[in-house]
Amino acid sequence: MSDVHAIDHPLIADKLTAMRRPTASSAEFRMHLRSITTLMAYEVTRDFATKPVEFATPVATGTFPVLAEPAVIIVPILRAGIGMVDGMLDVLPQARVGHIGMARDEKTHEPDEYYCKLPEGIEAAPVIVVDPMLATGGSAIDAVSNLKERGCKRIRLMNLVAAPEGIAAFQKAHPDVDIYVAAVDECLNEHAYIVPGLGDAGDRIFGTV
Ligand code: PRP
Ligand code: URA
Repeated sequence: MSDVHAIDHPLIADKLTAMRRPTASSAEFRMHLRSITTLMAYEVTRDFATKPVEFATPVATGTFPVLAEPAVIIVPILRAGIGMVDGMLDVLPQARVGHIGMARDEKTHEPDEYYCKLPEGIEAAPVIVVDPMLATGGSAIDAVSNLKERGCKRIRLMNLVAAPEGIAAFQKAHPDVDIYVAAVDECLNEHAYIVPGLGDAGDRIFGTV
């Protein structure tokens, strides 16, 4: 069974609380989401390997660590995952970005894939799938299944807020993919929204409410 890494940090908690307030503007919501993503990136990449390189600083020759695999690929689930891309690129500027578009049907809550564009060679790269919300888990499950069908083997999932139901469903479907979250909330409501959650993340990021 995969691990769930709940990232417990006062800076992340404070910014997430600000995002939950219905009075937060889209600009504030996007700013906090970007900051939290950058903070979470430290944990999501904590076990990334480094390799030594030797060169002379302005003072002396030494051996210094660099990322062994700089070719990370970030895959946001559209739309809301886009709000996490810049935060990841702030600390992984060399990363490439693929996109998977998923829309939940408002009545059935089933996801429908409407777009997919992924970088060449993705099957050999470490992949980090990003989406602020893990509700029923359906969107993330299908996105990761798509990546596995293309040969990806080293995938991790990064969410801001998850429901216990979504975590359980995702772990059942993808027991080999670790989940990183800033908060695990109480449950889903009858509309499959996370409770207490923060509402519709895509609408709040892009001001489409
Ligand atoms: C939201 C969210 C996730 C999905 C989570 O996207 O960004 O992708 O719902 O729900 P699930 O775990 O039950 O699948 P939505 O389909 O609302 O699209 P949007 O990002 O374009 O708003
Ligand atoms: N998608 C969202 O944006 N929010 C939820 O609470 C559930 C799904």
